[in-house]
Amino acid sequence: MNSALETTLTAPHSPEMGELNPYQTGPALTQATLTQKGVALEWQDGQQTTLPLRWLRDHCACPACRHPQTRERLYLPLEAITEPPNVALQDGHLHLQWQDGHTSAFHRGWLYQRRPEAEQMSAVPNIRPWVDNFAPEHIRHSDFLTPQGEKAWLTAMLRDGLALMTDGPLVEEEVSRLAERIGPQRATNFGARFDVRSKPNPNNAAYTAVGLPLHIDLPNWRHPPDIQLLYCLQNGASGGESLFADGARVVEALRQQDPTALAILSETPIDFRFQDETHDIATRAPVITLDSAGNLVEMRLNNWIRDALHLPVEQMEAWYSAYALLWKLFHSEAHQLEFTLLPGQMVAFDNRRVLHGRREFDPNSGARHLQGTYLDRDMLASRLRVLARND
Ligand code: OGA
Ligand code: ZN
Ligand code: ZN
Repeated sequence: MNSALETTLTAPHSPEMGELNPYQTGPALTQATLTQKGVALEWQDGQQTTLPLRWLRDHCACPACRHPQTRERLYLPLEAITEPPNVALQDGHLHLQWQDGHTSAFHRGWLYQRRPEAEQMSAVPNIRPWVDNFAPEHIRHSDFLTPQGEKAWLTAMLRDGLALMTDGPLVEEEVSRLAERIGPQRATNFGARFDVRSKPNPNNAAYTAVGLPLHIDLPNWRHPPDIQLLYCLQNGASGGESLFADGARVVEALRQQDPTALAILSETPIDFRFQDETHDIATRAPVITLDSAGNLVEMRLNNWIRDALHLPVEQMEAWYSAYALLWKLFHSEAHQLEFTLLPGQMVAFDNRRVLHGRREFDPNSGARHLQGTYLDRDMLASRLRVLARND
């Protein structure tokens, strides 16, 4: 290591931790002592922790251990640290001098934020299942273009799984412009940006005028698109109302009503398949995926691209009964949100959580034209974290 780096490392001013996320507001460290278990720390507000030596060595943020430009970790923690370092506090920050001569400096606020006992703070909200009379957030287009409005939209999307943008311009491709403020459009076999209107020779039910019962898009992909944006340019046809229901809520209702049905639907993989002249996209997965705590990870409900049911014969009847019950719960009025999308409005929803559909429309009574695209949920969470840096 060159001497210029040594100087920055041992300088008494605030250690640089190589983070864009704010951490500077923690209280000063008042004590740092070596113990059997590592370095015991106490902050001015009385909070305490003990950090193992290996953890401390692993989190050294010096330019040799953390790349100064990419901020990515360079240090590889393959060896136990058996030789205790010299421990010192300078301006309430922690300084360690390791036996091999390496030095590490830790900002007091960073250690405070990252101590194992601290609650992990996140700008990304937890999901909140819909309740009776759930009313989605409305965010005006002009507000969406401001950091505050965008934050409100992102928060609603990640929490509720659905948000409505209103008062947008009636111009083609606005959906792509809005999407790309957040992240790259997720392309599928229907393109990166698709038009929903009745078309001659449709290759998808959405491109006809029929009603679409509740569904998710593209459950036949191993990774269906996370977030769907539908921007309304014309909706003059009679019918065509939009329908939504929250999978997180309906799965809870199913658990209450028939836990065996939930077990069947979440433990039985079935086939999904889409085929046209140029594609044959298929996967096998359960209709409901739960995590180890029983929370919804994703829904795969789309009756028209469900493939032949390939199950042991003796399981079929029970599977169909469970499926019928789930279908009934999704389509019960108590669980459904219905509204007419107006031109200039954009509805966005978590395609793997919130099911969507539409009522039949009469293509002879007027034009109906939506433009849609998809985004990765990771990009929404990323935007929200970046916007929260300035809070
Ligand atoms: C779709 C779809 C809904 C609508 O394109 O996947 O479900 O309102 N469209 O047309
Ligand atoms: Zn280092
Ligand atoms: Zn759809």
